[in-house]
Amino acid sequence: MFSTPFVLTFSLLLSVPILFLLAPHFLLPPRPLRQVLISPSDELDDLALFDRASGSSLSFSHLSTGSNPKLKIAFLFLTNSDLHFAPLWERFFKGNSNLYNIYVHADPAVNVTRPKGVFKDRFIPAKRTYRASPTLISATRRLLATAILDDPANTFFAVVSQYCIPLHSFRYVYHSLFTSSSFDLSRTESDPDLSRLGVRAKYKSFIEILSKSRSLWKRYMARGRFSLMPEVPFEQFRVGSQFFVLARRHAMVVVKDRTLWRKFRSPCYREDECYPEEHYFPTLLSMSDPNGCTHYTLTRVNWTGTVNGHPYTYRPTEVSSELIYQLRVSNYSESYLFARKFSPDCLRPLMGLADTVIFRD
Ligand SMILES: *[C@@H]1O[C@H](CO)[C@@H](O)[C@H](O)[C@H]1NC(C)=O
Ligand SMILES: *[C@@H]1O[C@H](CO)[C@@H](O)[C@H](O)[C@H]1NC(C)=O
Ligand SMILES: *[C@@H]1O[C@H](CO)[C@@H](O)[C@H](O)[C@H]1NC(C)=O
Repeated sequence: MFSTPFVLTFSLLLSVPILFLLAPHFLLPPRPLRQVLISPSDELDDLALFDRASGSSLSFSHLSTGSNPKLKIAFLFLTNSDLHFAPLWERFFKGNSNLYNIYVHADPAVNVTRPKGVFKDRFIPAKRTYRASPTLISATRRLLATAILDDPANTFFAVVSQYCIPLHSFRYVYHSLFTSSSFDLSRTESDPDLSRLGVRAKYKSFIEILSKSRSLWKRYMARGRFSLMPEVPFEQFRVGSQFFVLARRHAMVVVKDRTLWRKFRSPCYREDECYPEEHYFPTLLSMSDPNGCTHYTLTRVNWTGTVNGHPYTYRPTEVSSELIYQLRVSNYSESYLFARKFSPDCLRPLMGLADTVIFRD
């Protein structure tokens, strides 16, 4: 038999390596890989803006016939470089001046050329943005809040980037969102019907909301194991594309939110799964109004052969009428309305297709 002192010494000795093995897991918090913290003064600026937008009760009832206000689409351009496709968008918007508004959030650290024409004076006060950080959530919320305050007629809010192109004419986009009863293939009998005036009683938001994704758990844990608790249990966590088209009441939900923002603004521990803007919006809207969202996006993207979280980027030689037709095909709606990503030098071939293909529908 072993003597008691021997057992004691032995177990003490044994516990040393065990402590070492376990130590990093419960003694030291993991070190964030990327510390993009939003400064308190930036946070206060945003809060003031979001508070003003939240208090804005102005919005047109789209069923009112009295003054017959024109409902508009707010296009929210989120960019950290020049708007390469400004001439294409210019042609897209031409002749529809009372049906849209444009807002541009350009990273102030980059010397972005401000295009004339429809983009003139449409740049909003912006702050720095960094990939894989909550700064992209803030920038999007700034765009939404500014657009809500700017014009009560803004009814849909479409986020696009400098790499996005339109796949149809403005008229087609407008009709699809506001009046078509067949555009949304996921629409069911129980959805609000078209009124006799031909407008939908309650618009849906076109935002991708995914609950089955290979890396869902890793993304949930990206800010630390229990960092989203108790507000967001794993079962309620969702992911999806940051390129969405929100109905006004959902844009309001986003600018009014304080609770989830406090969680999702935390820096990530895992850089490879850190795309806060792809987590925050789908989770927030899925938690607040799942039936008011289509759960799919209207912006086509090609994830085949993805590298470092970047989708495929089309080159000028690939731009053709066949590509445009191919990119329109969707499983969820009659057509995709936008597509990304295109390299800046695609502008020429795209302009060549503008009138004969892209805007002919
Ligand atoms: C930004 O670009 C303009 C025009 O190209 C140039 O005149 C200006 O000096 C640039 N500013 C900075 C800070 O690079
Ligand atoms: C998607 O990208 C791949 C290359 O990664 C390309 O071969 C394919 O043609 C693209 N698909 C479409 C629909 O453009
Ligand atoms: C549509 O669904 C089919 C079958 O799931 C899939 O193979 C195809 O890639 C989808 N198309 C698009 C454009 O997502």
